[in-house]
Amino acid sequence: MNTATPSSVPTDLSSEHVTVTPSILYFGTPVVLLSTENENGSFNLAPMSSAWALGHVIVLGLGADGQTAHNLRSRRDLVVNLPAPTQWPAVERLAPLTGRTPVPVGKRGSFRFEPDKFAAAGLRPQPSELVRPPRVAECPMQLEARVARAQPDVSGEFLIVEARVLKVHADPRIVVSGSQHIDPAAWSPLIYNFRHYYGLGPELGHSFRSQTV
Ligand SMILES: Cc1cc2nc3c(=O)[nH]c(=O)nc-3n(C[C@H](O)[C@H](O)[C@H](O)COP(=O)(O)O)c2cc1C
Repeated sequence: MNTATPSSVPTDLSSEHVTVTPSILYFGTPVVLLSTENENGSFNLAPMSSAWALGHVIVLGLGADGQTAHNLRSRRDLVVNLPAPTQWPAVERLAPLTGRTPVPVGKRGSFRFEPDKFAAAGLRPQPSELVRPPRVAECPMQLEARVARAQPDVSGEFLIVEARVLKVHADPRIVVSGSQHIDPAAWSPLIYNFRHYYGLGPELGHSFRSQTV
């Protein structure tokens, strides 16, 4: 049983550290669902968590042999859909699936090909306004975007994608009323923390640059 709750993790700098060799370094980033367009005009949906924003550009790290990476090399439109913490079971229904056939060698045995991932996840496609792939209707935040640059990472195993956000859609319940701000008290990302799903805990404080109270 895991008894190390965040409040019990020591933070004083004098504590001893040990050297460890973890198999993964997923230290807790938001889960996004990427909708992209397949060769045949159908749409793929894939969960990923190596994603962050640089201004209005989203940077994505994608396995080079996945269907999403194949799609984004040739068709630049995508939607970055952000699920809420309660939607983790739908994300996990997508987890063992790939839109790529034949299934890439490294995924054989643990992944299966699925041409309709929206249906497999129990999620509804919702038409986008500026890009071809649909949004995920159930996701409280949806970013329509277009690839500006896609290049291999240093290992050659991943594709690093920089996508410019064209339009942001938000559930009105997560917007500060009468403003353009997302309300951090109403919105929580779904966090992928060493292959476990978490939401956010209570607020600890805010940055001097925050524009919401
Ligand atoms: C929560 C979660 C986070 C993931 N994060 C990433 C990621 O950041 N990059 C990546 O390439 N794959 C990630 N994956 C694995 C992909 O979802 C998986 O490779 C999938 O088969 C890709 O689908 P596709 O081949 O249809 O694109 C993640 C999976 C889950 C469930």
